[in-house]
Amino acid sequence: MRLSDAHVLLTGATGTIGTALARRLTERGARLTLLARAPDPLHALARSTGGVAFPADLCDPDALRGLVDRVEEGQGPVDVLVNNAAADTAGFLTDLTAEDLRRTIDLNLTAPMELCRQVLPGMLSRGSGHLVNISSLAGVATFPGLALYGGTKAGLTHATSGLRADLRGTPVGTLTAEIGPVASEMMNRIGRHGPSEASFDRVLRARLLSLLEPDDVAVGIVAAIEQGRPHLRLPRRAAPIAAVTGIPRALARIALSGIPTRPAPQRPETQRPETRSAR
Ligand SMILES: NC(=O)c1ccc[n+]([C@@H]2O[C@H](COP(=O)([O-])OP(=O)(O)OC[C@H]3O[C@@H](n4cnc5c(N)ncnc54)[C@H](OP(=O)(O)O)[C@@H]3O)[C@@H](O)[C@H]2O)c1
Repeated sequence: MRLSDAHVLLTGATGTIGTALARRLTERGARLTLLARAPDPLHALARSTGGVAFPADLCDPDALRGLVDRVEEGQGPVDVLVNNAAADTAGFLTDLTAEDLRRTIDLNLTAPMELCRQVLPGMLSRGSGHLVNISSLAGVATFPGLALYGGTKAGLTHATSGLRADLRGTPVGTLTAEIGPVASEMMNRIGRHGPSEASFDRVLRARLLSLLEPDDVAVGIVAAIEQGRPHLRLPRRAAPIAAVTGIPRALARIALSGIPTRPAPQRPETQRPETRSAR
């Protein structure tokens, strides 16, 4: 996907990875619509990148309804959707509230799929587009305290794979980015739950994972978009493990190739056989 002059809708734009992504996308010539809740950092980022601030709470169904239409009315068709906003709710399940569950699933899973649903008709009719879902290696391996967060990320990875199968043969591409721990506020927050912190300490000490820098993650994601790669797994040393979990999805893709991905258009009621025989 060519990013020069492409219109990118980036959610979670003011976070650690979002900010690095906004800067890298701008360097590559993209025009940005930047989405997060808090308006002040969003406007500051818009000023520094030449993007447009679009404050919205993705957990609010009223804000989510028709969101892509409102963005496109102001800024024109979205060429690339980057679903990056997420909540990192860590803790033992019974220590979390029902509201924690609802908001985490809404933000990490419902909102990205809903935004894909909203943006797709325009992309398909224009004959180009790219859907980017920022997932996590927490959706590959389970860590204590990350049942909810990891569950939503596993769901997002799997749903994006399904979307890719549905979009086979269309000009709309997908990218699933499965990212390991990044030096970030999110990791600091997750580290406040002792068992999660101890788990990350162990895998980092064992060199199964390494702590990523946000700029390197942004460079990797943007390169994967430009190269049209369906998967990005970082750090590279963990990529084979993540790829193994993708094998059943890859096998299904091969076994089911050639199956139409969308139902054939319905014939008008009057032409259906049962209607004819009833005459
Ligand atoms: N950090 C890591 O170690 C790591 C590792 C693997 C994967 N990831 C993934 O990378 C992505 C970005 O992570 P990050 O560390 O950059 O996160 P972050 O620093 O916590 O930033 C989260 C962003 O989402 C926005 N946001 C939060 N709630 C929102 C809501 N209800 N509606 C709209 N926007 C909302 C925040 O701004 P407001 O609060 O102003 O809304 C902020 O811009 C996430 O998908 C995360 O799962 C991160």
